[in-house]
Amino acid sequence: MTEVASVLFGRQDIRRRVAELGRAITTDYAGRNPVLVSVLKGGTVFLADLFRRIDLPVRVDFMAISRYGDADESLGRVRILMDIEADLTGRDVVLVEDIVDTGLTLSYLLGTLRARDPASIEVCTLLDKSVRRIAPVRVRYAGFDCPDRFVVGYGLDHRERYRNLRDIYAVDDVSALDADPGVLAPLLRDAQVG
Ligand code: IMP
Ligand code: MG
Repeated sequence: MTEVASVLFGRQDIRRRVAELGRAITTDYAGRNPVLVSVLKGGTVFLADLFRRIDLPVRVDFMAISRYGDADESLGRVRILMDIEADLTGRDVVLVEDIVDTGLTLSYLLGTLRARDPASIEVCTLLDKSVRRIAPVRVRYAGFDCPDRFVVGYGLDHRERYRNLRDIYAVDDVSALDADPGVLAPLLRDAQVG
């Protein structure tokens, strides 16, 4: 087990960083009512913790997208499967993401949201894989800079599994995980631990 994946960011560090990000947003948006837009499904775990650390009357909204082809090989073409409910005209928008990798998805989303005339739009991501960036995007808030590793947990999946891990793991042996997607299942036992 330990050879396949190891903890990269533990729950305590995540908790502390999320609280800091919440405080920063609270300060920066004082007197305003930002709309937090989360991208399904990976961003929802982070959103749930983050917005309870924001001491402002925020609104949350969700968007579902699908990428064409493999995430890795993506040309940044994105299809909107479910759009947000809110009218963004004149609103302060914070786009909440789990991870920014190449930035292709994000730059498409930002383009779409900017066309709706928000007063402002900023990005808050838990993980920033900055070394992989292809599309230049301005990330205002980032929890952690992430090395060029495949990560799972705290919302991030491998073929829809492992989003419910409480820590973020770096996969050391990606081929073992591809060969047997269930190989990290023993890590999930931790879910019952107080
Ligand atoms: P990109 O920035 O357009 O390359 O794509 C970002 C998306 O790819 C994220 O929202 C994730 O869904 C996915 N992704 C990128 N890196 C990882 C990873 O290490 N683990 C799981 N999903 C990832
Ligand atoms: Mg995502």
